[in-house]
Amino acid sequence: MIPACVSDYRELARRRLPRLLFDYIDGGSYAEATLRRNVEDFDAIALRQRVLRDVSKVSLETELFGQPMSMPVALAPIGMAGMYARRGEVQAARAAKAAGVPFCLSTVGICDLAEVVGGAGVAPWFQLYMIRDRGYMQTLLETARGLGCPVLVFTVDLPVPGARYRDMRTGLFGGKPPLGAVIGRVLDGLAHPGWLMDVQVSGKPHVFGNLAAAIPEARGMAEFWPWVSRNFDPSITWKDLDWVRQHWDGPIVIKGVLDPDDAREAVRCGADGIVVSNHGGRQLDGVLSGVRALPPIADAVGDELTILMDGGIRSGLDVVKALALGAKGVLLGRAWAWALGARGEAGVTHVLQIIRQEMHMAMALTGCTDVRQAGRELLTA
Ligand code: FNR
Repeated sequence: MIPACVSDYRELARRRLPRLLFDYIDGGSYAEATLRRNVEDFDAIALRQRVLRDVSKVSLETELFGQPMSMPVALAPIGMAGMYARRGEVQAARAAKAAGVPFCLSTVGICDLAEVVGGAGVAPWFQLYMIRDRGYMQTLLETARGLGCPVLVFTVDLPVPGARYRDMRTGLFGGKPPLGAVIGRVLDGLAHPGWLMDVQVSGKPHVFGNLAAAIPEARGMAEFWPWVSRNFDPSITWKDLDWVRQHWDGPIVIKGVLDPDDAREAVRCGADGIVVSNHGGRQLDGVLSGVRALPPIADAVGDELTILMDGGIRSGLDVVKALALGAKGVLLGRAWAWALGARGEAGVTHVLQIIRQEMHMAMALTGCTDVRQAGRELLTA
């Protein structure tokens, strides 16, 4: 298949990756209602077609947190990307750099910060969860700052992990899998030789790079969920943000806000930005889609901090809809994860090109020539 759109990359990733990995990327929590809503609610929004408005020049350029960007899109933090393709975080960061957009490295990436900076030649945004061991958090923040990471994305919607049935069925969720599951995994790996050679043979080490130094048990996929359950701190409150602020002097973006009251708290705590997000439908099933949660939050705090959003973005048309509803930028999640799993760096590069072309087209046909001017007038009932 010659991939033409993001969903083609989903299909290519499904073919190339072992089931356990594809399901980890693709799945959501519980009955996956929010995961579906994230996509369906975008589909239900109508763009307003306008004509004869001189769209010979359309600018997608913008600036977020003092960083110029070729378009208002960043690659969302995605755990374990180095299992989808060899040293996957470095490959994705390279694609992002070439496209002029930021890459955000997850706390639970396979490649650590130094490897991404060395391999891509640019410091990524860094995503952090609240870990019980504050001393180690401080070390991570110092490392990120020392390497020049421009933005801290602090994810707050995972004080407890959502139940992901697909991960339970594949054995990823449950810690040490039974022998039958291990044999099944080996056979599944052998049935995907492209992935096997690229990742299992040539892509090691498979440890959570940012965590491995201080937390030796944070190794490999089998330990992923048990480690998350033991070490993520469910006692976190808004007060802990003061602690983060004391240890990070750059912009802080709080990821996982879905309610206007929480958005106001974020303003009070001095956050520079928020990501309106339900973690890609992977946490509390049944909550609002990102795109439905966005407008009241934009009305409440849009003038006071920078609003980003994610969840369900599968095309450049979706990006334009999010901007029209008050986001200053969006994060792509599964869109880049599927592309990386399917074709590595080339896949991520292509998906970013697709998004850019689709955005350009949507802007031109709604008569908007500057992405920074996008507003609700681009939409219709
Ligand atoms: C995620 N997400 C996520 N978020 C985060 O803050 N830290 C992380 O480590 C991860 N890991 C992760 C893994 C995978 C496989 C997925 C799909 C998602 C959530 C991610 O950053 C983003 O919020 C969603 O992916 C956005 O939804 P879409 O674009 O995937 O629909």
